[in-house]
Amino acid sequence: MSLIAVFDSGVGGLSIYQEIVKQCPDHNYVFISDNLAFPYGTKNEDDLIGRVLTVIDQVDKQYHPDLLVVACNTASTLALPALRQQFKFPIVGVVPAIKPAAKITKSKVIGLLATPGTIARSYTQDLIEEFAFDCDVIKVGSSPLVEIAEQKLSEGKPSLKQIEQELEPFFKNKRLDCLVLACTHFPLLNKEIEQIFKAKNHSVDLIDSGLAIANRVAELCPNSKDKTDNFNTAVFTKLLESSSLKTHLQNLGFNNIDLLD
Ligand code: DGL
Repeated sequence: MSLIAVFDSGVGGLSIYQEIVKQCPDHNYVFISDNLAFPYGTKNEDDLIGRVLTVIDQVDKQYHPDLLVVACNTASTLALPALRQQFKFPIVGVVPAIKPAAKITKSKVIGLLATPGTIARSYTQDLIEEFAFDCDVIKVGSSPLVEIAEQKLSEGKPSLKQIEQELEPFFKNKRLDCLVLACTHFPLLNKEIEQIFKAKNHSVDLIDSGLAIANRVAELCPNSKDKTDNFNTAVFTKLLESSSLKTHLQNLGFNNIDLLD
C-alpha cells in the first residue's frame, strides 16, 4: 500500500483523483489544494515555481508521500523539472492532451482550452509543434472557467450562459472536432460543456489527461491487498469554509480534512 499525494491549486485535482482511485483503490490518498494561492493560471512563472516547491516541501514533511501527482497543467508545464530535482519520490505530471487529440481528430482542427498560464508556456507550444504540427490549434486561455468549476463544487449549479461565453471562440470554426480540456478544473464541467456544444449541433470529442494519468499511477503503484487502514485526507492551505465542498469530499472518500502547517 502506498500513500499517493494528488496536488492542485484547487478542486481541479479531484477530476484526476477520481480517475486514479478507480484504478488504484488499494492505496491511501492525500489530496492537496493550494487554495491560499489559487488561482495558479494568472501567476508569474518564477513566483509559481517558488510557491509549488514550498507547498510540496511541506507536504513531504507532513505526510511523506510515496508518489506525487501534480494534477495541474499550469504547474506541471512549468515546475516538473524543479520538483524532480528537489524530491526523491516519483512525480507524475499532468500536461495538455495534445498528442491524443492530434491522433483522434479527423478534421485537423483542435481546440485547446487551458488557463492563460498553460496557453503561454513554451512547453505547450513545443507539444503542439511536435504532435499537432499538421493541425490548426485554436487556443483559449480562460480564468473565469476555473472559477466557475470551483463555484460548482462549493455553491452548486453553474451558469451555462457564462460557460458558453468562454467557449465562444471555438464555435466560429465548425470543423473543430476535438477539444482538449488542458486544465484539470474543466472535466468538472464536462456535462455542461457537452450540453452547450450539443445545443449548437456541433459535435466534439472532449479530451483530458485523467485516464492516461491513472494508467501511469497504476504502473508505478500496483494494487496490493495489504491495505491496513483507511487514511484519505484532503489538505488545504487556507481553512475550507464551504460545507458543500466538505460533503463532496466526504462522498469521494476523504475521511479527514486538514490544514497544511
Ligand atoms: N487546475 C489547474 C490546471 O490544471 C489550474 C487552475 C488555476 O489555479 O488557475 O491548470
